[in-house]
Amino acid sequence: MLYRNIAKPFFFKMDPEKAHHLVVGGLEKSSALPGGRAALRLMYGVPETADLSIDLFGQHFPTPVGLAAGLDKNAQAVEGFSSIGFGFMEVGTVTPKGQPGNESPRLFRLPSDEALINRMGFNNEGAESMAQRLKKITKRPIPIAVNIGRNKATSNDAAHEDYRQCIRTLYPYGDFFVVNISSPNTPDLRSLQHGSELSFLLSQVKEEMDVQRQANGIRKSLLVKIAPDVTASELEYMVHTLTETGMDGIIATNTTISREGLKHSSAGETGGLSGRPLRDRSTEIIRSIYRQTEGKLPIIGSGGIFTSQHAYEKIRAGASLVEIYTALIYEGPEVNRRIHAGLRQLLRRDGFRNISEAVGADHH
Ligand SMILES: Cc1cc2nc3c(=O)[nH]c(=O)nc-3n(C[C@H](O)[C@H](O)[C@H](O)COP(=O)(O)O)c2cc1C
Repeated sequence: MLYRNIAKPFFFKMDPEKAHHLVVGGLEKSSALPGGRAALRLMYGVPETADLSIDLFGQHFPTPVGLAAGLDKNAQAVEGFSSIGFGFMEVGTVTPKGQPGNESPRLFRLPSDEALINRMGFNNEGAESMAQRLKKITKRPIPIAVNIGRNKATSNDAAHEDYRQCIRTLYPYGDFFVVNISSPNTPDLRSLQHGSELSFLLSQVKEEMDVQRQANGIRKSLLVKIAPDVTASELEYMVHTLTETGMDGIIATNTTISREGLKHSSAGETGGLSGRPLRDRSTEIIRSIYRQTEGKLPIIGSGGIFTSQHAYEKIRAGASLVEIYTALIYEGPEVNRRIHAGLRQLLRRDGFRNISEAVGADHH
């Protein structure tokens, strides 16, 4: 209520990117105040319950709904986001060197479609700066995933070195890692999802994870985030390659370049489309991955989740965890309590004792 009636009308009058910085900066500052985190938890926190918590990727997730990558690109407000009901969060996408991203304007709201289009282009301060920030956060109530990418100036031939560099710099500070090869806003990045480029990249990244595991004495999980704009045979190849190269999981999906069914006048903007129009497509991809792997490769579902029903659809299709971005912009942090309360009801309705029992239920 607070967000929809007071904050949202204010933010939605501002330039979208300015509003974004205000939210992240505000969360960073309020969580640094004495009692700030406790106040955020009181307003927006979601208490852990046995039916919604889940253990995966060597981590304990107090709740199954996380914050998707791209909102806290520099790990600036980790403590704030950890206090508003998320069960985990992704920071990044981070690249080895800091870079400014694309020219503004590069973020567009499409309220009539409950969607966003962005062409940010991995604007971030670089891996070293993120490491310095994460190093300072000693107490972590939720798992933090580091989402990694390549610099715009790096060619795909050398991309593996960028991903390896991010892992080298950030391994001690992430709880698990996500290889992002699915952003539409870095020229040619998505071709890393196919053919020998994919198998080479993943084997290189896996090798670096193994080196770091030895050096740090701790094993961390590695996931890959994929695009929704793939054919059935491309998806099959990707999933096969991920399994063959020993990836621990998959995030499905990133934003889409499709513009099907949009009403808003900004529909023609270049970039990745997120929010409601992405929902069914990403669920369909989750369903295919689960079917192909017979549920053996854990999936994090992302794309168009606004309600508990949307989250539940993805869980029943095969996702063990889900994450949101666009819904947070449209609905505010209250959305987490609503989704979690609704999920508990849906589990009870269908006779499941916990989330794990519902994962992939549509296939059984
Ligand atoms: C403004 C914006 C920036 C994003 N930046 C990234 C990013 O840096 N890395 C990434 O993997 N995904 C990024 N995403 C994609 C989201 O993480 C998410 O997968 C996608 O928006 C679908 O979820 P949603 O419909 O709940 O927003 C971004 C999305 C938006 C809207």
